[in-house]
Amino acid sequence: MDNFFPDRGKVGPTPSMTHRADESFLNYLSDLRAELMMGPSKVVHQKANAALAAAGVKFEPTEESVEAIRAVVRDKVPEAGVWARVYRSTQDAFWNRVTDSYDLRRQGFLTMLEDSDKRGPGSVTWDPTYQYPPYTAVETHRQNQGYVGDALSGLRFDYGTRVFYGAAGENDFLHKSLAAKVSPPLDGKITRIMDMACSIGQLTCELKRRFPDAEVWGSDISAPMVRYAHYRAIEQKLDVHFIQKAAEDLDDLPAGHFDLITVFILFHEVPLPIIDRAIANAFRLLRPGGTFWISDFPTQGAEPNSDGLNYHGYLAAIDSADNSEPYAPDFVRCNVEERLAKCGFRLRYQTLADINAHGRVCDKPE
Ligand SMILES: C[S@@+](CC[C@H](N)C(=O)[O-])C[C@H]1O[C@@H](n2cnc3c(N)ncnc32)[C@H](O)[C@@H]1O
Repeated sequence: MDNFFPDRGKVGPTPSMTHRADESFLNYLSDLRAELMMGPSKVVHQKANAALAAAGVKFEPTEESVEAIRAVVRDKVPEAGVWARVYRSTQDAFWNRVTDSYDLRRQGFLTMLEDSDKRGPGSVTWDPTYQYPPYTAVETHRQNQGYVGDALSGLRFDYGTRVFYGAAGENDFLHKSLAAKVSPPLDGKITRIMDMACSIGQLTCELKRRFPDAEVWGSDISAPMVRYAHYRAIEQKLDVHFIQKAAEDLDDLPAGHFDLITVFILFHEVPLPIIDRAIANAFRLLRPGGTFWISDFPTQGAEPNSDGLNYHGYLAAIDSADNSEPYAPDFVRCNVEERLAKCGFRLRYQTLADINAHGRVCDKPE
């Protein structure tokens, strides 16, 4: 890589931080968030929700509503305000550190991506002239320049989500456990799989490991994501194909082509009309008897979550406003099960929400 910096190797397929101090700081932040943020969050949010109910303040996805909520919480549950502030500040701190650290070796990483674009196993197809729709300009989760704004967005997302997920992010543990949960079609036949909105291809690669004989594809709207996904798959010697494609714009792929389509945590991050078009595309691309596996936030039609918190009230207000999730409130208010049925899908079962979000398994009728 670049001559100026020591080669610190990789963490799995992921290039290490440039300096040991960056890595130490990020490990510290990750553990701090696990202890301080994730542990107490349930109690803090329950208290905040109770205070909001007592004050008669309900969350609506508007700035006024979020401000009204902040005012109640400042007054009645100051620890919730502190929680939100620390959550936001640590989120910014880790993205900034990851961005700055990798940017020190920017030219080396750009060359690395140009080189892996041309190599196998597997392939990547992307369009340098692609015009991104305006809704992708959001810096989701406060990631600097979001999913599409920088050639190194995929690399940043990899290390940043490792910090975010903490222990679950180690060695792609979360995605390995997701791949193990994916339900195949009822007839068991799997020759082609598509992982929609695959980001850096973590689930895509784990699906290839689970179904080694299948042809496995990952699609994502972001060129930086699919390019880095391909690099990451090469590092793991996996023969997976990545294409830059919006989930709502898969019209040029042949109908009935796939046996299984997966989509993990895309829907809460895009506007509702995009979700409907993505569902319609999944239906068209699946063969009769094919399966659509969705894992995302629980919505109106979802079975209730065991802790009763789901994504509503204080958490929804703060996450949407402070963690840059502008479309999530509309998603959790919608009935995604109904939208799936309207497109023709038959819901096989749901799995209750856990760290891996709420699973829905649907089949395209024979
Ligand atoms: C939260 S990440 C998805 C995580 C990923 N599925 C995984 O297994 O970890 C959201 C991804 O959706 C992509 N995306 C956003 N809008 C999209 C769209 N309309 N079609 C396809 N991908 C989209 C983003 O580029 C980003 O990579």
